[in-house]
Amino acid sequence: MPHTVRGRARAQCVAVGTALPERRLTNAELERMVETSDDWIVSRTGIRERRIAPPDQGLSHLAIPAARRCLDHAGVQPAEIDGIIVATITGDYVMPSTANLVQHGIGAANAWGFDLLNACNGFVAALSAATAYIESGHARRILVIGGDIMSSVVDYRDRNTCILFGDGCGAVLVEAGSPDGHGVLGFEMHSDGGGGGDLIIPSSGSAMVASAAVLERGDQFVKQNGIVVFQQAIRRMAEVCDSLLTTLGLSGADVDLLVPHQANRRIIEPTAKRLGLSADKVVINIDRMANTTGATIPLALADALADGRLKSGSRVLLAAFGGGLTWGACYLTWGRT
Ligand code: COA
Repeated sequence: MPHTVRGRARAQCVAVGTALPERRLTNAELERMVETSDDWIVSRTGIRERRIAPPDQGLSHLAIPAARRCLDHAGVQPAEIDGIIVATITGDYVMPSTANLVQHGIGAANAWGFDLLNACNGFVAALSAATAYIESGHARRILVIGGDIMSSVVDYRDRNTCILFGDGCGAVLVEAGSPDGHGVLGFEMHSDGGGGGDLIIPSSGSAMVASAAVLERGDQFVKQNGIVVFQQAIRRMAEVCDSLLTTLGLSGADVDLLVPHQANRRIIEPTAKRLGLSADKVVINIDRMANTTGATIPLALADALADGRLKSGSRVLLAAFGGGLTWGACYLTWGRT
């Protein structure tokens, strides 16, 4: 359902911090691992390389430095944070949550936290939750973190999936600001659980517990019906952007920057085209990052800040689609007022 902001405070996105593993896995290396080619990967997806974490490092190894950098940029102390929401499907553990590991790791003594499972639409969902806490007066500062160690759930023998994903993490500080200042102006979220089987990690919860048979079948890894997900993503990303802008009485002309989930360059470009946006108004970093699931949007925001396209007051449209199926969009003006 569409939602427009009418609360007593506006949720402002004021800073970003990121963390990436050092190791780069290039298409040339993948050519030596599975039957694929750099040409195929670049032309079908836009991806040239992805970052890969060491196998013994969980998401908190990236989430803690990303959170610290975000707070440094914002000039905010850890003790001033009320809440931490981590959007991820590859947290360190199911219990404890990665949000709790971050809370302890950064010394956010006054913060509660929880993890939010919404796959590639996780960051938008976490931002919508943080917005609701802030608008309702239940929190003043929430760290919204999106991150995934996708290499922990990818089968590097499966060419259909192993070329697509990478690891990374980004944190955005969301603060209560004046109701007529910068901040989140609206969002729209959707689900279609009927498509759940099209993008799934079969043995990742109570439905199929780990066993020797699971490992033999590789059911601990991501499985996807690529073409169905691709077609749905193109349709839903464009629909949700149109619908949210219409609800807000706006159009593509009111978007300075589209910051989309980075799943495939051929999904991003039709979304931008439908909105009538020129290439300079669309953030694309999939060539260097691949699909980092919960991290794609905060990593793209950080890139846009670094290249000067994202500034205080920029009118930003976030949009994502992912396993669930789930999709959503958020319209905001950037920065603190
Ligand atoms: N290298 C070479 N060939 C590959 C390959 C690879 N890495 N991966 C798949 N192929 C082959 C397939 O086996 C298939 O071969 P077949 O026709 O002989 O069976 C063929 O390429 C499919 O080609 P095509 O239909 O042109 O691929 P596509 O345009 O559908 O692109 C994806 C495939 C996976 C890139 C695309 O479907 C996609 O991006 N899907 C969405 C993925 C996604 O976003 N997931 C996360 C959602 S948030």
